[in-house]
Amino acid sequence: MPAQRTRIKDLLSAANVDDAPNPVNVKGWVKTVRSSGGVAFVQINDGSTLADLQIVVDASCPDYGLVGGLTTGCSVSAYGGLQESPGRGQRYEVVAESLELLGGADPEEYPLQKKRHTLEFLRELAHLRPRTNTFGAVARVRNAMAFGIHQFFQERGFLYVQTPIITASDAEGAGAMFRATTLDLNHLPMTGGQVDNNADFFGRPAFLTVSGQLEAEIFAQSMSDVYTFGPTFRAENSNTSRHLAEFWMVEPEVAFCDLDGLAQLAEDFLRYIFRHVLENCPEDMAFFNRFYDKELITTLEDIANSDFERMTYTEAVAALRESGENFEYPVEWGSDLQSEHERYLTERKVGRPVIVTDYPSSIKAFYMRLNDGGETVRAMDVLVPRIGEIIGGSQREERLDVLQRRMAEAGLDDAPYWWYLDLRRYGTAPHAGFGLGFERTVQFATGMQNIRDIIAFPRTPRNAEF
Ligand code: 4AD
Ligand code: MG
Repeated sequence: MPAQRTRIKDLLSAANVDDAPNPVNVKGWVKTVRSSGGVAFVQINDGSTLADLQIVVDASCPDYGLVGGLTTGCSVSAYGGLQESPGRGQRYEVVAESLELLGGADPEEYPLQKKRHTLEFLRELAHLRPRTNTFGAVARVRNAMAFGIHQFFQERGFLYVQTPIITASDAEGAGAMFRATTLDLNHLPMTGGQVDNNADFFGRPAFLTVSGQLEAEIFAQSMSDVYTFGPTFRAENSNTSRHLAEFWMVEPEVAFCDLDGLAQLAEDFLRYIFRHVLENCPEDMAFFNRFYDKELITTLEDIANSDFERMTYTEAVAALRESGENFEYPVEWGSDLQSEHERYLTERKVGRPVIVTDYPSSIKAFYMRLNDGGETVRAMDVLVPRIGEIIGGSQREERLDVLQRRMAEAGLDDAPYWWYLDLRRYGTAPHAGFGLGFERTVQFATGMQNIRDIIAFPRTPRNAEF
């Protein structure tokens, strides 16, 4: 018996039996077992591809006696010849010469039965759900998109930098940070009626980062073109199908670049990664198209092949007010666009992704470059159908005095940001960057309704199991 295991994907992708490894040793988890006329048909999956492999076990196999004990969820190893399958639904099958039961799964207890389970039920089984077709496909698409993201930036000479997860500064100035502490919350060290932060691990308050942007800016101010790709954390009490407390963000930061250059980068980037996933995950994408969104592939192909619409915030507000729609939240110049507004713009008004620019300075972060007149900033959000905002970014404020004024207006103490301000003191250069929500992007590409089904172990308010 060959020691090497053959992945089901490699077997099934062989052009014909003669090109495939033969005989083969395959291993995986049992999906179904069916017996007829003294022959057992065991469907197994090893996660390498959506398709299952059929193992045929008949009485001539010395391990035939095992088949009675094979149930959904067992892990098995089979050795035998690969042949064209006369059965429907598959090209090849393996006729077992030997079979081994590696790990049983009591059918009375195994929670993933053959029937279809709801996505909500499967969320409680995050340790087993990767065995289902849907979550296997999400995992493979997620993997391909992460790889495509690196490939896009690497092909363009961007440097991948790793920014810290523990930080002392609030990158968004929005105060939605988790605190990272080793203090004993039941016995807090006090000084002058206040918690003594000096006694904490870092000798000061520390947090989980909401964004790697500020540190990426450091690198852009010496390496020109950089990007980060890492986990970020937001302690917002948002219980929606598009919010997580822990999610992954891709943040390119580019020196000598203005907002127009950044918008072009964002557009090229999104088109590239959607094309990448269509080309690299055809079976999984066909699965999502069939079971989750019948227009999925057409939509992604359209996006990969068309230009995005651009409009200013002021134009967007005018379009929303003229729409005649009955929005839950009123549309007024100066208030943030709500998800319903974003979706109207991209789904109804334009029917394609939209890049909205130049938002009111009062609703955007302190680091965005102020436009002449001071009412608006050089911000951009990229909106896509079904999801709304998928990218948020801006040209950065490179003028020290303007930045300091904006921080004061935002009520931020500039002491912890001394190094950020130094970048404006020494060789400051125009620069711009954006953040792409990775889970929202995979959610969009798969047609899945809820972001909690995109990340393996979702963290949301009151939920941090696994
Ligand atoms: O618009 P945001 O807050 O931008 C920033 O954090 C900037 N520092 C990025 C930058 O310019 N380098 O977040 C960027 C993106 C959003 O467009 C959204 O796709 C995603 O991150 N995002 C979330 N995804 C899931 N759950 C949440 N709670 C999210 N908050 C933001
Ligand atoms: Mg945003």
